[in-house]
Amino acid sequence: MDQSLYSKCLVILSVMGMIGTSSAAYAGGPWRRASATFYGDETARETMGGACGYGNLWNSGYGAATSALSTVLFNDGYSCGQCFQIRCVSSPNCYYGSPATVVTATNICPPNWGQNSNNGGWCNPPRAHFDLTKPAFMKIANWKAGIIPISYRRVACKRTGGIRFKFEGNGYWLLVYVMNVGGAGDIKTMAVKGSRTNWINMSHNWGASYQAFSSLYGQSLSFRLTSYTTRQTIYAWNAAPASWSAGQTYKSNANFS
Ligand SMILES: *[C@@H]1O[C@H](CO)[C@@H](O)[C@H](O)[C@H]1NC(C)=O
Repeated sequence: MDQSLYSKCLVILSVMGMIGTSSAAYAGGPWRRASATFYGDETARETMGGACGYGNLWNSGYGAATSALSTVLFNDGYSCGQCFQIRCVSSPNCYYGSPATVVTATNICPPNWGQNSNNGGWCNPPRAHFDLTKPAFMKIANWKAGIIPISYRRVACKRTGGIRFKFEGNGYWLLVYVMNVGGAGDIKTMAVKGSRTNWINMSHNWGASYQAFSSLYGQSLSFRLTSYTTRQTIYAWNAAPASWSAGQTYKSNANFS
């Protein structure tokens, strides 16, 4: 091979390698084993208002493709928003060809200390377990199975549009629920900047919510977010106008890649 062509190929290959690792090193990893059940019915109505704080999942954009995670997978809420590809394996109840489906973590499946972790206490530590919505379960297996063995792995979250911020609190306490997060889907740290303040670090409240104890009324607000998995940092400038109020949801143009 011509020497210059050879070096061009090397450059292309190494650029491809860098893109592969920097964009989604967490995705496409090895499949891990877990088990899965479902909660609620075909409407997925009971799965709304989970421990991540997304509220109504139709309004927040997640729909019925969601799951509650056992304690070890939930990771104190830092797994909220992460996306998982799930396949039914090694069960006569799996649909033919072990089709895969993708779900977003929106809830915790709490431990049930009254039941053995191999007989009903599926979400007890140290088990990795997914409690899917019934529509998600029905994509991979016959729901009559009740519980199935699965393989799962992280995948990048494909979202339309920017990150959304749902506001709660008051003029001295801002509580923000972070939704529609793309890429790794998760948040490690977050800061807010009022139009008349510097950056103020927010603390993790619960699920996918972060808070600042500051007087921010009457100021437009920008947010700085760092992903839990990739440590990528992005800025959502002027995500909320100076007229912001609790109870409202604001859409930004920023999202993780
Ligand atoms: C605020 O958060 C940033 C990023 O996480 C960190 O580097 C910095 O030390 C924090 N500042 C304070 C005052 O805690």
